[in-house]
Amino acid sequence: MAQIPAGRLMGVTTVDQGPSRDALLDALRGVIDPELGDNIVDLGMVRSVDAHADGRVEVEIALTIAACPLRGQIQDDVTTRLGALPGVTSVDMRTGSMNAEEKSALMSRARLKAQEDKAVTVDFPVTARVLAIASGKGGVGKSSVTVNLAVALARLGFVVGLIDADISGFSIPRMIGLDGRLRGDDDRKMLPMEQKVGEGLLKVVSKGFLADEEKALMWRGLIHHRALQQFLEDVTWGDLDYRLIDMPPGTGDVPMGLARMLPRAEVLVVTTPPIAAQKIAGRAADMFRRAHVRVAGVVENMTAFECEHGELYALFGEGGGDRLAAEIGVPVVGRIPLHPAMVGSGDEGKPVAYGDDGPLAQAFTQLAARVARDIAPVVDAASCTARLIDDIERRLGEA
Ligand SMILES: Nc1ncnc2c1ncn2[C@@H]1O[C@H](COP(=O)(O)OP(=O)(O)O)[C@@H](O)[C@H]1O
Ligand SMILES: [Mg+2]
Repeated sequence: MAQIPAGRLMGVTTVDQGPSRDALLDALRGVIDPELGDNIVDLGMVRSVDAHADGRVEVEIALTIAACPLRGQIQDDVTTRLGALPGVTSVDMRTGSMNAEEKSALMSRARLKAQEDKAVTVDFPVTARVLAIASGKGGVGKSSVTVNLAVALARLGFVVGLIDADISGFSIPRMIGLDGRLRGDDDRKMLPMEQKVGEGLLKVVSKGFLADEEKALMWRGLIHHRALQQFLEDVTWGDLDYRLIDMPPGTGDVPMGLARMLPRAEVLVVTTPPIAAQKIAGRAADMFRRAHVRVAGVVENMTAFECEHGELYALFGEGGGDRLAAEIGVPVVGRIPLHPAMVGSGDEGKPVAYGDDGPLAQAFTQLAARVARDIAPVVDAASCTARLIDDIERRLGEA
């Protein structure tokens, strides 16, 4: 949790205890190169990192190819993670291009890593963004936000995968109005349920789409963990721009284990306006940080409700979203008003985000636009490290 150092409260700019070298490197180990699947410290991409007495941190990152479109993602991640450390007031990041020696060290490390990971089959494109939607407790509207964000992103033309990872409280099938059983493909992997949405497409997996016997096993917790892992690994996703994960609520073993399986994910923490809720959501944010997963933003749900006469009803108080965002050093990326239409639409399986007007539809369109801008799928990764790998392989082949 980002604490304000006592020195700053008294108007003094020196920080008594800046982050240690270990803390800096630990934070940077949370930054995963999306293509190489390993962290930037062990890949040798961190040339230097220094914390100054005034809370400023200077960091230099060597990139494989300076013009790589994935650079923005790495850059955001470095700044957020270092910026969230206690005592850090600003982050100065410089990037440079790797020299030949650095590149070849990086490639051998990446190869080693690829060999170690052989057992894990990850079938989804590196360009897809993974968004975990989390909350400190149930009932804050996490699933409602996940489903409607998925629909709103699909309406923008994206292909959106949706994993219902709240195994014991699954609700996605009902909310999204899909029914049926998951089929397997020739590789004995699951095929997600598909639903066309405007120009886009939803691909959904949920316990709700499994056979009753399988569900019974999951209820008893026997294959809880394995079920989640299957949803992550044993699904043939095909093309994908986003993969949204409706996380189990809280900070127990199941969400923590799942967080560890998602090094490349970005988290949206859903909270409600009361200050008490902000504390609980803060614990969830902290859990992700410990698992080195980046929190990208806060979504405040059940925000003040505006009646037809333009009067605002802050039924559940206000400020929780802003407080939480300030505390963890990320923006509030969406505010979803408290509105009775949300309840009916969830029960009928017609997400409000299908609508063209009304406060709820508008709020989700705005949230989706913000996500599409801040956490954009990578359009052209061909110019990134993939190209570098190709180059090296080719040269090795020629030699
Ligand atoms: N913005 C909102 N306005 C009104 N009701 C809401 C809103 N968001 C969620 N709800 C309702 O609150 C209940 C809990 O939402 P749900 O998405 O199931 O929460 P969670 O997944 O966090 O447990 C549902 O009945 C849902 O319809
Ligand atoms: Mg839920």
